[in-house]
Amino acid sequence: MNLKETIREIPDYPEKGISFKDITTMLKDSEAFKEVVNQVHENFRDKGITKIVSLESRGFIVGGAVAYLLDAGFVPVRKKGKLPAETVTESYELEYGSDQIEMHLDALTEDDVVLIHDDLLATGGTALAALNLVEKMKVKKVYFSFICDLKFISNGKKDQLSKYETHTLVEY
Ligand code: PRP
Ligand code: MG
Repeated sequence: MNLKETIREIPDYPEKGISFKDITTMLKDSEAFKEVVNQVHENFRDKGITKIVSLESRGFIVGGAVAYLLDAGFVPVRKKGKLPAETVTESYELEYGSDQIEMHLDALTEDDVVLIHDDLLATGGTALAALNLVEKMKVKKVYFSFICDLKFISNGKKDQLSKYETHTLVEY
């Protein structure tokens, strides 16, 4: 199955010059959705993953399904102010704009093997901020999973991420 064909591209959204990768067309296709979840599960099934750390909001959809299949726990990383208990916070820059993300302080322990999942790797700002949150907890090991990687964007942040084992399904 060609997963790339199931992702819709919206020109000049949310800003002129950005070609938005719309995964809703992939998610509504039951076969494509299943294929994505199964491929991520297949890639990580032997890695001893104990927690999926997933990013609000588009990362939650596949991240939750993969956590279920891997018999792993699910840890949400959310935009600032959304999590109710004590949190750790990181600032980050987006492809467009900047923001802060948070994770609960008690979400991970030193015994965890973590898979950070998000739908899209663009500038790497979000993923690097998530990595910084996870590494505060001194976990055993970190892996990354993205549905899409915008390979045409390369920068220092993505270089920092490249030393981690990463699974990507669709490249642009
Ligand atoms: C988008 C996307 C990734 C991130 C990638 O999320 O879902 O999380 O940007 O960009 P980066 O690699 O340049 O950091 P967004 O913050 O737009 O929020 P959403 O998932 O809630 O739509
Ligand atoms: Mg996102």
